[in-house]
Amino acid sequence: EQSVFQAGLHSARPPFTFQSNLWEPLAKDTLSASSWGYIHGNAGAGSTYAKNLAAFHHYSIVPRRNVPSRTDKDGNLLFSDTTTTVLGQALRFPIAMAPIGVQKIFNEAGEVASAKAAASVGVPYILSTASSTSMEDVAAANGDGKRWYQLYFPTREHDEITISLLNRAKKAGYTALFVTLDTFVLGWRPSDMDNGYNPFIHPDRIGVEIGFTDPVFRAHFKQKHGYEVDETQGTSATALSGIGAAAQEWTKIVFPGHPHSWADIAFLQEHWNGPIVLKGIQSVADARAALKAGVQGIVVSNHGGRQHDGGASTLGMLPRIVEAVGSEMDVLFDSGVRCGADVVKALALGAKCVLIGRPYAYGLALGGEDGVRHVIRAICGDLIMNMHLTGMTCIEEVNRDILVKEDDLF
Ligand code: FNR
Repeated sequence: EQSVFQAGLHSARPPFTFQSNLWEPLAKDTLSASSWGYIHGNAGAGSTYAKNLAAFHHYSIVPRRNVPSRTDKDGNLLFSDTTTTVLGQALRFPIAMAPIGVQKIFNEAGEVASAKAAASVGVPYILSTASSTSMEDVAAANGDGKRWYQLYFPTREHDEITISLLNRAKKAGYTALFVTLDTFVLGWRPSDMDNGYNPFIHPDRIGVEIGFTDPVFRAHFKQKHGYEVDETQGTSATALSGIGAAAQEWTKIVFPGHPHSWADIAFLQEHWNGPIVLKGIQSVADARAALKAGVQGIVVSNHGGRQHDGGASTLGMLPRIVEAVGSEMDVLFDSGVRCGADVVKALALGAKCVLIGRPYAYGLALGGEDGVRHVIRAICGDLIMNMHLTGMTCIEEVNRDILVKEDDLF
């Protein structure tokens, strides 16, 4: 990504801004009030969300000087090396794209645009179960890219649907399974409630596929309702009731309101023969339970503050979780990452990799595939330059020693 930096030195105006703090307000201008409410909205009064962002200001990066730069074999300058290994896979950057559902809400090109952009930059794309595009179509768009699948784990009476989703994901080349534990029911999200907004049955979104492409789900639906899931685009009463009923049925299966048990993880291990990562871990006790369950990783995440209010910042919780389990499993991180310095701080506190969430969805709203690519490249470029200027030549050097706590300074 050094080319991003070099391109910035030329005088042409870029099609999208490099000012990461502007992606959000510019995206807001392109979205309807209810779609904006969905993407930006948070649980309760938004305090978990606010703390996620604020936490990054509690730590500061202390640069080292006169650190020799890397060079290639001909002695040419190379900026810092951002390559790393996560879940046994070699990555160009310690960055992946967080699972974000129903992306056609933000741009008609939806997940296909995001998955193409991910592949072109070389970052893994995590596809949500709540995708508005089938996992096979997303896989085709992602091509040779790295892709991981995020599961909203159906209730145990629907194991056959879970097995179908896992088999399809394996077949379509998704190489790791992310199981989200914090969304067994959708959070108390005042903005969506004010807008009467359910992203899965919103009238603008008839035709959104969610899990409807799954043959086992469709068979279950037909048996229960006596008619097929009808995903026809359009506004006819049948299409509306077909999709509405299917969305409601799907919601009951994946967001039933009661959580799974730790023992249920074994079922996924039986049916998935790759790394499993539990997303939504916020406590040391749960990190230890995840380790005991034998999974390969966790994502320290609070869903961007969208699930429970009054929570701690994920960055604040990260060090103690890393201390408890970091030597034995990969600890990934999300919620609040907005720029290269944020990535550095999360890595320095022990994360192996961060997930970028809202910023790329804003990019999607701003400019489809190009917008997503711009946002991801900009964060990667910012990360490289941050490491280079602070004297960190590779990811191993991004450790606790490069940070100070602001509170300790005064
Ligand atoms: C999400 N997130 C999410 N997580 C998940 O596991 N499955 C999903 O389908 C979704 N969908 C989703 C939609 C939208 C609009 C947002 C903003 C987020 C959570 C996501 O993966 C990630 O944890 C957060 O986005 C991180 O917070 P920030 O950094 O985006 O604020």
